[in-house]
Amino acid sequence: MTATMQRPAKLKVRRPDIDLSATPKYWVLDDPQATHALNILNFGIPAGERFFVDSVRLAMPYIRDKALTADARAFIGQETVHARYHEKAAEHLGLFDLPGIQARIDRADRTREALYKRVNALPEPLRRRATIAWLSSTLLGEHFTALFADIALNPRKIDRSALDPAMETLLGWHASEEMEHRTLPFDIYTHIGGDYVTRVVPLAATMGLLPLALIGVTELMMRLDPDIDGGFSLRDHVRAVRAKRLPSLLDVVAKLPMYFRPGFHPSHLGDDFRAREFLGGGWTCAPPGSCSSPAPGAASAGPSPSSSPGRPPPWS
Ligand SMILES: [Fe+2]
Ligand SMILES: [Fe+2]
Repeated sequence: MTATMQRPAKLKVRRPDIDLSATPKYWVLDDPQATHALNILNFGIPAGERFFVDSVRLAMPYIRDKALTADARAFIGQETVHARYHEKAAEHLGLFDLPGIQARIDRADRTREALYKRVNALPEPLRRRATIAWLSSTLLGEHFTALFADIALNPRKIDRSALDPAMETLLGWHASEEMEHRTLPFDIYTHIGGDYVTRVVPLAATMGLLPLALIGVTELMMRLDPDIDGGFSLRDHVRAVRAKRLPSLLDVVAKLPMYFRPGFHPSHLGDDFRAREFLGGGWTCAPPGSCSSPAPGAASAGPSPSSSPGRPPPWS
């Protein structure tokens, strides 16, 4: 059964001015391993964002709410722009020139495109069921991106002055929009009849794999880098987390169980006032009350990019 909902449209697509021409290869300044750990955002996450976008495209015919439809279109726009900017960064950093990287991305894109065609051609009600199953993976992906975004925007957890300024703006904008649209796929999922079991299956199946996958990608990128010797070092990783140059994976893992709560909603996750501060006037809360308030003392924990002296928001 399709749920009904009233939701004021809120999302908008932004195209920030970001000039990466002076961004150095090791843009987590002087920390090659932390840079390689985070470069997944630039060369790999765009393929994931296209995966999220396709699930929302498949769901569009089932949405019976004008505001939700408008937000779904804006979500597609936001993720498409994120992917484009990060791939520009990956090109600037020469990541697609590393052996096997472009081939891996192309393979993932071909698999997604073939899956999209197969699902789209299914008769009803199979098409709807397959769309809900695909969306459940998107919900999980958005849960992870919101968890990382919440950490990245928190000056008590990440020292963004350790980043190249242009890359810091790119990450701040992306993290803020991830917080802004974190409820959207979930709202579509429930609106078109997604159930609890289908929602939690992807996390139950992959829960322990996230740290291993991130360490594996870091190791791969370091081995492919001709300018450094050796691969992933646990000691360097711990040092980077302590220096707030990398998010703590323990922090992320600790917040995964909340996803299993039957009453879970992504609006319960994170302090989105920092994202609102970054995005300035382009943020409204929908549904009303879904925005959280600053934690006591958090607002004074550090300046945001948009409030820093001499640092205007990256769009006009
Ligand atoms: Fe994104
Ligand atoms: Fe997202």
